[in-house]
Amino acid sequence: MSLQGRDLIADYDLSREEVEAVFAMADELRGESREDNLKRLPGRSLAMIFQKPSTRTRVSFEAGISQLGGHGLFLSAGDMQLKRGETIADTARTLSRYVDAIMIRTYDHQDVIDLADCADVPVINGLTDLLHPCQALADFYTIRQKLDGLQGLKLAYVGDGNNVAHSLMLTAATVGTNMVVATPRGFEPDKGIVETARKIASASGSKIELTDDPMAAVEMANVIYTDVWASMGQEEEALLRRAIFRDYQVNDEKLDVADPEAIVLHCLPAHRGEEITDSAIDGAHSAVFDQAENRLHVQKAIMYLVMS
Ligand code: CP
Ligand code: NVA
Repeated sequence: MSLQGRDLIADYDLSREEVEAVFAMADELRGESREDNLKRLPGRSLAMIFQKPSTRTRVSFEAGISQLGGHGLFLSAGDMQLKRGETIADTARTLSRYVDAIMIRTYDHQDVIDLADCADVPVINGLTDLLHPCQALADFYTIRQKLDGLQGLKLAYVGDGNNVAHSLMLTAATVGTNMVVATPRGFEPDKGIVETARKIASASGSKIELTDDPMAAVEMANVIYTDVWASMGQEEEALLRRAIFRDYQVNDEKLDVADPEAIVLHCLPAHRGEEITDSAIDGAHSAVFDQAENRLHVQKAIMYLVMS
């Protein structure tokens, strides 16, 4: 099996075996010396286009490609000719002449698909309004690291049915983890994504369920996951959402009914005191900073597998 030259646009671009290959490569790269890491992608370049802010994605990709002996180019979309109307297609064709892969964070998921259609090099989705596949891979890598396996575990996602929830559902279905998504009514995940996740889940033997009852969702959960109530681009809805999502906060009350060994995950950045309390994010169950670290390891594995 080879991922060479492949794009990572949606979570379902990877089969279960391919997800396992990414995790195995992440383990291998972590186990290597710095010197050996540097020999993995010598002289390769990664263009990183950002239309939205980022801390983890930017730094983990940029540090990651450097650690593999390559070079990352941070490209703020606002400083590119994209801003003045150059098309995604022409941008893709041009960048393909200079670099070995392109990572993009943007609003419209279709832009990533269009970029990949016109690029001659692999394209990696660094978050769109619809999906965040690198995040979900790092999340399941973290669960595997902390809980020893993925099949049959219960992952409870509590909060907004957003891009992170979508990617978690698709990857949970692929790797055989059961997932319950608890959202207020009207904030459920996208219907098409739910349908796709359930189709994938029927092959892996896992279940993808939706509810509006956050306490029922977290009962005996092995993993409790949350994300911000207002994503990038929804800032003007933040106040309204705060009232609607109040009961969906990850806190000690929720942890009390989860599995005693449960871990707490959050993709970060967190709005402490809103979707998660300090006690949950800083407490003994929290794995959020290992999770953040794992973005680096998993993305190094992806870059190596698609660019080598
Ligand atoms: N989790 C995540 O993607 O973080 P950034 O927005 O900081 O990249
Ligand atoms: N759902 C969040 C994730 C940030 C990493 C957003 O899109 O803003």
